[in-house]
Amino acid sequence: MKTLAIIGGSGLTHLRNLSVRERRVMRTPYGEPSAPLVYGTVCGRDVIFLPRHGHGHTIPPHSVNYQANMWALKECGVTHVIAVNAVGAIKTALVPGTLVIPDQIIDYTYGRAHTFFGSHPEPVTHVDFSYPYCAALRETLHDAAIRAGLDVALQATYAATQGPRFETAAEIVRLERDGGDIVGMTGMPEAALGRELGLCYASLSVVANYAAGKGSGQIDLREIEHFLESGMARVRSLLEFAIPLLYDGR
Ligand code: HPA
Repeated sequence: MKTLAIIGGSGLTHLRNLSVRERRVMRTPYGEPSAPLVYGTVCGRDVIFLPRHGHGHTIPPHSVNYQANMWALKECGVTHVIAVNAVGAIKTALVPGTLVIPDQIIDYTYGRAHTFFGSHPEPVTHVDFSYPYCAALRETLHDAAIRAGLDVALQATYAATQGPRFETAAEIVRLERDGGDIVGMTGMPEAALGRELGLCYASLSVVANYAAGKGSGQIDLREIEHFLESGMARVRSLLEFAIPLLYDGR
């Protein structure tokens, strides 16, 4: 049986098309998740929603308890996770407002609790992470985009940075040289923790701005807000197609 969770990022602190049934406060061996889990339905299908930055958007990317979030979802029987992320465009063809279903990650974050396998005296455990996102769920998101009449970019490497400041222009040149197409602060260690728990995890990223040095001046926070609002409206309509596709295949 499948159970879907949606992790909302900046610009998506609640799901407007979610009929809420209950909110459940969770405790895990790693502490509390960012917020109570919101149980509800979208188009009649069960969905669990978790706002990554907390209900009032108060938890910055480097302080999110990614371990507690992913553990809580697993404990509630979640099998599939659609992670919504705001990102900047390194590749300028990905104009602000574009939806991206990334296929690769490079991790530049540090000091975050990034594994469930870090403590003695457990046996040393390694997980395969060659293809960090779940292929089947990416395919579902792509099909949903086609049905919703929305353009999405499918081949993009997500560069995960530490934040909360934006990058320097030189840092973006380096990320570009490394092969990064989009840059965001929340993609890791969330994806890796999901893999360690055996969750089928994919990201739906919304381009909110050109990355540092790629636009015409400084990064403009009002512009980010504007593109996040229109981008998240598109995320909601994509999800309305993705959810029945995931549960019923149509
Ligand atoms: N850099 C990092 N994270 C981001 C950006 C950015 O330019 N835009 C939205 N999240």
